[in-house]
Amino acid sequence: MFDALDTELMARALRLARNGLYNTDPNPAVGCVLAQGAEIVAEGWTEPAGGPHAEKVALAAAERRAAGATAYVSLEPCCHVGRTGPCTEALIGARVSRVVCAALDPNPLVRGQGVERLRAAGIAVEVGLLESAARELNCGFFSRMSRGRPWVRSKIAASLDGRTALANGSSQWITSAAARADVHRWRARSSAILTGIDTVLADDPSLNARAEDLQLPVDQPVRVVIDSRLRFPATARMLRLEGAVIVFTTREDTGARQALMAAGATVEHVAGGDRCDLRSVLARLAELQINDIWVEAGKALNGALLGEGLIDELVLYLAPKVLGDAARGMFALGVLDSLDAAIELELDDVRQVGPDLRIIARPSTVSGAAR
Ligand SMILES: NC(=O)c1ccc[n+]([C@@H]2O[C@H](COP(=O)([O-])OP(=O)(O)OC[C@H]3O[C@@H](n4cnc5c(N)ncnc54)[C@H](OP(=O)(O)O)[C@@H]3O)[C@@H](O)[C@H]2O)c1
Repeated sequence: MFDALDTELMARALRLARNGLYNTDPNPAVGCVLAQGAEIVAEGWTEPAGGPHAEKVALAAAERRAAGATAYVSLEPCCHVGRTGPCTEALIGARVSRVVCAALDPNPLVRGQGVERLRAAGIAVEVGLLESAARELNCGFFSRMSRGRPWVRSKIAASLDGRTALANGSSQWITSAAARADVHRWRARSSAILTGIDTVLADDPSLNARAEDLQLPVDQPVRVVIDSRLRFPATARMLRLEGAVIVFTTREDTGARQALMAAGATVEHVAGGDRCDLRSVLARLAELQINDIWVEAGKALNGALLGEGLIDELVLYLAPKVLGDAARGMFALGVLDSLDAAIELELDDVRQVGPDLRIIARPSTVSGAAR
């Protein structure tokens, strides 16, 4: 069904899609290549939300050379009228003869209907080329659409013996400048950065994306703080920086809420009693069109998220130093009585970043369908 040329051109569409990773939220980042045989006539990727989708960018560049071409698109073309007109109609109008999609769009407004519309117009459509890479690239969008919750990545900077902060709370900086620059690129591609109130109280972090080396327009991620008792200080640094701040609480305390709102935060009430119910937090964030979350929290929140099976991916930076067992660990979890109860992980990527080691690992339970 697909030949080597198809694979090469779809791989190119996927590479182009990566250019949109930092600014298409809440839309997926998509790439498109228009080719007449082996000759590429035009290409494009999704512009920031509200701008044209990848197909339209490529069609505009191709002009009349789109007629009879094959369109390689990393996600099924949309068929609904969103902020921009349907891409299916643009492809039909330009008289392309074949469309190859890497994956169907999981959005219930599309999900196979884009393909049907193209076929009904007499265009040959094939689906599934490099599908897992396409789903991986937009795992947040797939997760939000198929599971009703964002993709959750937790970053932890630690010593080689797995310690994230000294007993006195000091943690800046365990890892190198190179690792921290890598973190800023991850922050920049995330819809939101999530932390626990105790990290805010200990570090007063900015939690923004400072990724000057990217040389791409970056939308600042939303900062999310889990704070059952509304201890968040209205003077926190992050409130003075560009980008939205959402504080989740279980409290009704109107005085504290009003002070925070006056300081620029949005306060969301969530179920939970003593502690914010983390599943409800994630469901609410999906409603707010948050595709993927980058967690930078301490062992309490990381332990709760991991223990509840809510972490999809761990991004661990391990500095070649030892802090000893009086320093704090990565996850506050209950005592295990058996090794069978261990949370099993699968390594996805291991590399050196500056002097540090970066390990990306996924709990074995994370379903492939989420991405
Ligand atoms: N090395 C790293 O990568 C890294 C990254 C970030 C932070 N840190 C360090 O971590 C330390 C802070 O860590 P921490 O463990 O004390 O705090 P944390 O994980 O940042 O925040 C924990 C707080 O979140 C609130 N929370 C609300 N709902 C919760 C739930 N369902 N489960 C768990 N917590 C919930 C709780 O306070 P309420 O009950 O009041 O809501 C809890 O005390 C600091 O020293 C900081 O420097 C290290």
